[in-house]
Amino acid sequence: MKRVFAISDIHVDYKQNMDWVDSLSGLDFRNDTLVVAGDISNKPLLFSKALECLQKKFENVAFVPGNHDLWVRGTDSSDSMEKFYLLNNICEVMGIKTKSFLVKDRRSVQIQPLFSWYTKPEQGEDSLYLAKPGEDPNLSMWADNKAIKWPSMNGFRHPAEKFINMNEWQHDLTDEFPVITFTHFLPRQELIFGLANPSVKKKFTDPFPAFNFSRVAGSVLIDRQLRNIGSSLHIFGHQHRNRQREIDGVTYIAQCLAYPKERHWAGIKDDEYFPKLVWDSENGFVKEPEY
Ligand SMILES: [Fe+2]
Repeated sequence: MKRVFAISDIHVDYKQNMDWVDSLSGLDFRNDTLVVAGDISNKPLLFSKALECLQKKFENVAFVPGNHDLWVRGTDSSDSMEKFYLLNNICEVMGIKTKSFLVKDRRSVQIQPLFSWYTKPEQGEDSLYLAKPGEDPNLSMWADNKAIKWPSMNGFRHPAEKFINMNEWQHDLTDEFPVITFTHFLPRQELIFGLANPSVKKKFTDPFPAFNFSRVAGSVLIDRQLRNIGSSLHIFGHQHRNRQREIDGVTYIAQCLAYPKERHWAGIKDDEYFPKLVWDSENGFVKEPEY
């Protein structure tokens, strides 16, 4: 049997997170695919070390960059697009999948990595922005403002549009098998924590009242693209909150390792935390209650 697992935001700059990557079984996942939906590390050496470790444990590892991966502060890259191409080259040399591929068995599935970025509200209507009382419109506590540097977008309105355009020419999919897509950033407002699910909202204490995550959450362009492709399941990261939600025929899943302190808050023990099984070649997509 072949299986597909999802994880994101492994942030191996934290030793506890790199230890978690190291501790995954070297035997259990040999026929399996791991989708890593961004945010491994801003440091290229740690980035490569984590992927090398995962590559030894899984048959396939697929990856798209998150915002932390494209930070240029403290690296040799002159801007975040140069860093993007550097990471793509590292992946290509290592055999990490950044383009569509088929997981083939008696039942098969296609995996389509999609590059993405967020649209800020001032950049256009494709932003996932939702107003929040008392928010800081300058996002002064958002580290990307200092650590991300974009070159000219050469005719594109903003990075989110440029990345979506990059994806357009790399689909290599057939109608014969279902499709799993994945991005780092969120494709829909309904997936933003504390907004979509009233039962979660009641328990949620906002640690940063002036910070409005929806300004940098993702882009409507992502959802438009994954639906054009015909995706049945979309995996995303970025938010450091786990979710499973079905909206208009597409299942959305987030499974984030996140920061050690966040697992601690959530009462999750490292040795009990695993990538999430989303598909296997005996049963197809794994059905689970929404959360
Ligand atoms: Fe992250």
